[in-house]
Amino acid sequence: MPAGRFWAKYVKRVSTVREIHNLALVGFMGTGKSSVGQLVAAQLHFRFVDTDELIEARAGKTISAIFAEEGEAQFREYERAVVEELKNFHRAVIATGGGLVTRDESLASLKTHALVVCLWASPETIWERINHQSHRPLLQTPDPLAKIRQLLSEREPSYRNADVLVSTELRSVNEVVQHVIHPFRLARGQPSHR
Ligand code: S3P
Repeated sequence: MPAGRFWAKYVKRVSTVREIHNLALVGFMGTGKSSVGQLVAAQLHFRFVDTDELIEARAGKTISAIFAEEGEAQFREYERAVVEELKNFHRAVIATGGGLVTRDESLASLKTHALVVCLWASPETIWERINHQSHRPLLQTPDPLAKIRQLLSEREPSYRNADVLVSTELRSVNEVVQHVIHPFRLARGQPSHR
């Protein structure tokens, strides 16, 4: 069966058993969840939300401060609480923190209301994209590329549990946006022009 037809059938099956009114973007740090998510939201006329921003607003401090003052375990607890809140959202594109779906129950919860799309990139590409940034506490180590490789391979099985995997390698942001919107429209039973 041609890939396109298999794809359409798969997404149709997803849409008949699930109520999909949001789109969630998961994936490692630096895969473009926020930039892609904002453009996807604009095209769909959905609101854009970012779980890290929701957590910072609820906690009244930055992610770095949460990690430094309360630790990663508490940060994951904040993530869990935000995932609960997301159930009440409608017509939202949700960019999630890179570690959020490593908890199986968080991914399962997202799938009750959203099509979950994972953005993918190699460790080298990720490092190239984010090596000028310093706001990610997990990468404040002497060898961040090694840390990216380690975390990515640990998390890969979780990322593969998303509904759709989209490679961001050698693609412009706009191309990635189209690869995200296409299956979402199919899952919602809307025509797509791709
Ligand atoms: C994290 C990713 C970050 C942020 C926190 C932890 C992770 O979000 O949630 O620093 O565990 O991968 P981004 O993926 O938006 O950078």
